[in-house]
Amino acid sequence: MKSEFEGRVAIVTGAANGLGRSHARALAAEGAQVVVNDLGVRVDGGMAPSDASLRVVEEITAAGGHAVADYADVSDAAQVDALVARTMERFGRVDILVNNAGLLRDKTFAKMDLADFRLILDIHVMGSVNFVKAVWPIMRDQNYGRIVLTSSSSGLFGNFGQSNYGTAKAGMLGLMNVLHIEGARNGIRVNCLAPTAATDMTKGLLSAESVDLLDPDSVSPAVLFLVSENAPSRTIIGAGAGVFSTIQVLETPGVYLPPGKRSPADFAARFAEMQDLAGAATLDGAFDQTEKFVRAALAAIRKGE
Ligand SMILES: NC(=O)c1ccc[n+]([C@@H]2O[C@H](COP(=O)([O-])OP(=O)(O)OC[C@H]3O[C@@H](n4cnc5c(N)ncnc54)[C@H](O)[C@@H]3O)[C@@H](O)[C@H]2O)c1
Repeated sequence: MKSEFEGRVAIVTGAANGLGRSHARALAAEGAQVVVNDLGVRVDGGMAPSDASLRVVEEITAAGGHAVADYADVSDAAQVDALVARTMERFGRVDILVNNAGLLRDKTFAKMDLADFRLILDIHVMGSVNFVKAVWPIMRDQNYGRIVLTSSSSGLFGNFGQSNYGTAKAGMLGLMNVLHIEGARNGIRVNCLAPTAATDMTKGLLSAESVDLLDPDSVSPAVLFLVSENAPSRTIIGAGAGVFSTIQVLETPGVYLPPGKRSPADFAARFAEMQDLAGAATLDGAFDQTEKFVRAALAAIRKGE
């Protein structure tokens, strides 16, 4: 049976190693033509696809797939634009963008200098923004696009020593939420992945038993789903060891505090009620919160609260 990915053109960033390599191989195995992006620095200081990227292309080609290696530092907008221009020359379209490239500069916040904070924002946040910016007009013209942003449980739930990385990875949610709204009328769907896998990035942090289970290949089915024709949009999938979840931002119904009952003690007395997840729901956009609060306040006032 013909795969829906045949004829699709995909760019996977940071695809020379780890999760990106798995995503690239999985997309190619489904018939997509894949651009394997990673940093490329030659010994003489010039730029060219890295040996590791070329190895991934060889693996894909040996398995009967189609891929090319191309270099760009994701944090350099000019290099990213040039890569996307080369992709258009080669393939004439870009259907799928998997923003995956990244690295760490862990330190406690007390010891972290601002340069390391900015570097991580530059690579994870601006790196994703640079690539989305370059493919956005193409996807809009095609009226088709699938974008995955790589978030992390560090940003969604927190992790010691990763204030820079956690900030960047939580930023993926904000980017997804807005691009989802702006891309909808042009058939562009935007989702987040929160993976966990044994890669160079997590070397030394995992037990021997979990390393086997946390094979990066066990994450990639989530990416295939998130970039498929029937993909959802504005969804966060958690993935690791072949286990898949969704992570959702919910807001509780809210509690109306009447004027005169808004002191710290009044607030504290109703805090448990504010936190009660019964009736909690996600919102379709920012102004849904405004309308919800106005409705709740008016209803409470009418009841004489
Ligand atoms: N491994 C995990 O458990 C885990 C958990 C949560 C999130 N993530 C995220 O998943 C993504 C992939 O991580 P991984 O574990 O496979 O790491 P990895 O270190 O194995 O691979 C990352 C790749 O990105 C490339 N890269 C780094 N900076 C780049 C740049 N400026 N431009 C282009 N390429 C660049 C590296 O050369 C490398 O090939 C990252 O965004 C990471 O933050 C990983």
